[in-house]
Formats: sequence, structure tokens, C-alpha cells
Amino acid sequence: MPVRGRGSTMERVTSRLDDLPLRDDLRGLTPYGAPQASLPVALNVNENTHPVPQDVADDILDSIARALHDVNRYPDREFVTLREGFADYLGHGLDAAQIWAANGSNEVLQHVLQAFAGPGRTAMGFAPTYSMYPLLARGTGASFVAGAREADFSLSAGSAASQIADAAPDVVFLCSPNNPTGTPMPLDVIEAAYDATRGIVVVDEAYHEFAPHGTPSAVTLLPGRERLIVSRTMSKAFAFAGARVGYLAADPAVVDALRLVRLPYHLSVLTQAAASAALRHAPTMLGMVDEIVAQRDRISATVEALGYTAHESWTNFVLFGGVADPADAWQRLYDEGVLIRDVGIPHHLRVTAGTEDETTAFLDALASIDSAL
Ligand SMILES: Cc1ncc(COP(=O)(O)O)c(C=O)c1O
Repeated sequence: MPVRGRGSTMERVTSRLDDLPLRDDLRGLTPYGAPQASLPVALNVNENTHPVPQDVADDILDSIARALHDVNRYPDREFVTLREGFADYLGHGLDAAQIWAANGSNEVLQHVLQAFAGPGRTAMGFAPTYSMYPLLARGTGASFVAGAREADFSLSAGSAASQIADAAPDVVFLCSPNNPTGTPMPLDVIEAAYDATRGIVVVDEAYHEFAPHGTPSAVTLLPGRERLIVSRTMSKAFAFAGARVGYLAADPAVVDALRLVRLPYHLSVLTQAAASAALRHAPTMLGMVDEIVAQRDRISATVEALGYTAHESWTNFVLFGGVADPADAWQRLYDEGVLIRDVGIPHHLRVTAGTEDETTAFLDALASIDSAL
């Protein structure tokens, strides 16, 4: 076995993935890999780029400090206080029995797939959509079917229903609004998708807070729909990506199913304390949303003026088309110190709305590279 020396430590490394007795269904897959580079302007993974306000950060720190006194003990396995916090935040009469949470909505979705997908089963999404759905599905041994959208990335109720009826998946992902396109999804699409399957329907509302004020959440559809799940995250509007907290609302029986697959004590006492404290400051934490939406709309207007096409977005990012060579444009922006995302859609790039200064830096850099078709 080759040995790589680093200083005085000797690290043994296996030469190749292919040499390992890896599961056959994982061979050839590539891991999630959005580049992490420390550039001055990082607008590539749809984070909230505004720091947590100082007074909120101080209160979160106090809560973490208090929780640290109990860190010798396992945390509350049922994270009751946190679940009550999410129920209050979501409203609509939800209670803690209908709430689940985990380390990011990625883990929430993984729990859903572990419970309802798995070997011999199928998950489905409508491409282009969130790149983790197929990876998470395959990680549980399930297969993944990519349904289609219209040329403008919308999805009608009729099309969703007929594609779901054809594929007969066990789990359907509806990303609302959709990443990486920003496209809104009306509630009638969700209702039609639900009626077209006997499987689980997951509405991923990671970006819901950036939709126009008053946009109804799929949470309003939960009564009477015991196979419907609405997932959310604190990573976007709440500026809490580094804390890793996602959650969902569903029928209490769904929550019981997720208890079968979660690791015991999966949410650390520090995570629970931090997230509960942040939730107590929800209005302040969400105070940045309107400013981010203003920057998003500024991006859309400005890229249009530069000769690109901005797709309608109800999120904190903009997908724009009309890029002559996305890989080349991405590299030239990188060289200017601006990191955005090439999501693999021909002639398109995606950029997160940052602070006003970051957004200006991106728009200036884009204007300078002149890469419209
Ligand atoms: C649509 C969607 N769902 C879920 C996630 C996962 O977020 P997290 O695991 O940080 O909660 C993301 C992150 O970009 C996303 O875009």
C-alpha cells in the first residue's frame, strides 16, 4: 500500500476508489462539489451573505454557553424546544408533533429517503432541479428518475401529474421555488402531483422566504394529506448555513417514520441551543430578506441590460442565459475575484444575490468580461 509522508506523520492512503469493495450502485458517481474558494466575493451556493446581527449573535452565544454546561450529557433526542420553535415560526396551527429537524435540510431529505425510498424504490424530481436529490436518493440505494420541465423551466399541473403517473415513484421532490432556476411553483401543481401518486411528495421550500410577501406555503396543503412533506432550511433566509439546521412539517406519522432511521441524538445540544435562540430572533434574522430581494431584482434588471436573459426568480439567486461560453465566463469572473456557479445548463450561469457591495462587484465584473452571446 502506498505511504504518503507529511512531516513526521505517515498517512496510509488507498490508491484508488475502484480498488475498494464499494457498493456497485455507487461506482462512477461523483460527490457534491460546489467549489469552495476563498475569493473576496463568494456568490455561488445561495447563502445569505449578510452576517448575523451582533445583538442576535450575542444572544445565540449566551444560549450556546448555557448549553455547554450540559455537554457531558446526550442532548434531548426529541429536540422538543426546537420543534416547538419551528411550529410557532411556521404557524398555520402546526404543533411540535408535526415537525422534524436535522443537520441541514440535506439530512432531513436523507431521512425521508431512508424511510420511504431505499433499495428497489424510486425517487423523482423535475430537472433541472436541486443537484442533491439524485445523490441522496442513490445514497439510500434507490434509483432516481428525472422528469422534464418546459423550456422556461416551469412545470404545469397536468405535466407533473402525467409524468408522475408514468414513473410511479415512491418519493417525488417538488422544489418550490426551484433551484437552480428560481422558478415559482403554484400550489395547484403540488395538489396535482399529490393526487397522481400513492408515494410521498416532498415540497422543498428552502427559498420560500424570498418569494413575494403573502405567497402561500405548501404548509397550507398539509391538512388531509398524510403523504405530503414540506421541508425548509435555516441556511438561506436565516443566515445560518454554517450551523446546519433544516426542518420539515408533515403528518405526525411521517415523523414517526423518520425516527426509525435517524441516528440517536443527531442534533447536538449546541445546535439545538443555537437554532432555538436564532428562532427567537426570527424577525431580525429575516430583516435582511427584503434587501436581498432588492439586490436579486437589481441583478435581473442589470444582466438584461447587459444582453443576457434573466429567468424569473422567487429565490435569493438569479439564473441567467445568453452566456456565450459559461465555463470561460465563470473563470474570468473567478479571476476578477467573484465566485458564481456554473450549474451545467448550456449558456447559463447562476449567481446569488449578495450585499449591495458584493452585488455591485459581480455586476461590474460581468460588464467587464463581455461574454453575452
Ligand atoms: C433546494 C434546496 N434544498 C435543500 C438545500 C440544502 O440546504 P441545507 O442542507 O443547508 O439546509 C439547498 C441548498 O442549497 C437547496 O438549494
